[in-house]
Amino acid sequence: MIKHYSIAATFGIQAPASLKVEGFEPEQNPYVPAQKPYVFRKEHLRDVLAFLGSPNGDGLYLTGPTGSGKTSLLEQVAARLHWGVHTVTGHGRMELNDLLGQYMLADGGAMHWIDGPLTLAVRLGHVLLINEIDSVDPAELIGLNEIVEGKPLTLPQTGAVITPHSKFRLAATGNSVGNGDQSGLYQGVLRQNLAFLDRFRLMEVGYPDPEDEMQLLAAVVPNMPESVRASMIKVANQIRKVFIGGQDGGGLLSVTLSTRGLLRWASLVATFKSAPNALAYALDRALTFRAEASEREAIHRIAKDVFGDDWA
Ligand SMILES: Nc1ncnc2c1ncn2[C@@H]1O[C@H](COP(=O)(O)OP(=O)(O)O)[C@@H](O)[C@H]1O
Ligand SMILES: [Mg+2]
Repeated sequence: MIKHYSIAATFGIQAPASLKVEGFEPEQNPYVPAQKPYVFRKEHLRDVLAFLGSPNGDGLYLTGPTGSGKTSLLEQVAARLHWGVHTVTGHGRMELNDLLGQYMLADGGAMHWIDGPLTLAVRLGHVLLINEIDSVDPAELIGLNEIVEGKPLTLPQTGAVITPHSKFRLAATGNSVGNGDQSGLYQGVLRQNLAFLDRFRLMEVGYPDPEDEMQLLAAVVPNMPESVRASMIKVANQIRKVFIGGQDGGGLLSVTLSTRGLLRWASLVATFKSAPNALAYALDRALTFRAEASEREAIHRIAKDVFGDDWA
C-alpha cells in the first residue's frame, strides 16, 4: 500500500510542507531497515528521492570516501519510507548466482528453491543495495544490465521469468566511481565494465560539513561540551586534509578519520571520560592504533594544536 510522506516532517529538513514523496504504509515488513538517527543533507536527499520516485531505467551509484554515510543514507531514507531493502556487500568472489538464489535440500531429500536478494527485491518491489560494488568481478555484474533497465529477470536454474515489481530499485555504493582505484587507498577495487556503469546515475557523498557533524555528535554525546565537539570535528577535518590523495597521491597519512571514526572517537571519549586524557586515550582506540608510530605522533600533534591546553 502506497502512502505519501511529507519531506520536511519525515526527513527533518526545510522544505515546503506541501512537498510529499511516495513510500509505503508502515506494516510488518522484516526487510524495512530499522530507523536510526540520521542527519539528512538536502542535496543528497534530492538525488535519492528523485531516483526512488522515478528511476527511468537507471540504477543509483553513491560514491565517496569510506565512512561518509553512503550506505546509511540509502537505508535511512528507506527506513522512513518503509521501503524494504536487501543489502549485500560486494567482494572479489561474489557471483551473480549468489544474488539470484539457490536450491536447498529440504527434509525428505527434495530440493527446493530459495530466492536470493536480487530475486526477492525484484519480486517484492524492494531496493537491492550492493555495497562496495567496485570490488565485484565486472563479469558477474554484466548479468544485471537488463534488470536495471526494468527487463524481466530470468532464473536459469528454475526457468522462472519474473517481471520486476514497479517499486524494484537497484542501488550501489563504492569508494571509486568504478574506473579502478586511482588513489591506491582501497584494496580490491576493480575497474568496472563501462556498459554496466552507464546504467547508473551517480551521486557523491563526501564527509558532512562541520555544522552537520555537530548535529551528529550532539545526538551521540549530548553531554559533551560544545567546544570539545567543535574541536573534535576540526581535528577530523585536518586529518582528512592531510590524508587526501593517500600516501601515493601526496597525502601524508595512510589512515583517516571518517564520520564513522569521528562518532566512534566521541563515544569512546564518553566511555573513558575518567581516564587521565580521555581524548587522546579514545583517539588511539578509535583510529591511531591502526597507524604507524610516526603517523600516530603526527595525528596527536594535530589534535594537540587544535585543543591547546585541553589536550593532556
Ligand atoms: N549524516 C549522518 N547522520 C547520521 N549518521 C551518519 C551520517 N553519516 C554517517 N553516519 C554514521 O557513520 C557511520 C558510517 O556510515 P556508512 O553509511 O556506513 O558509511 P559508508 O557507507 O559511506 O562507508 C554509520 O554508523 C552512520 O550511522
Ligand atoms: Mg558502506
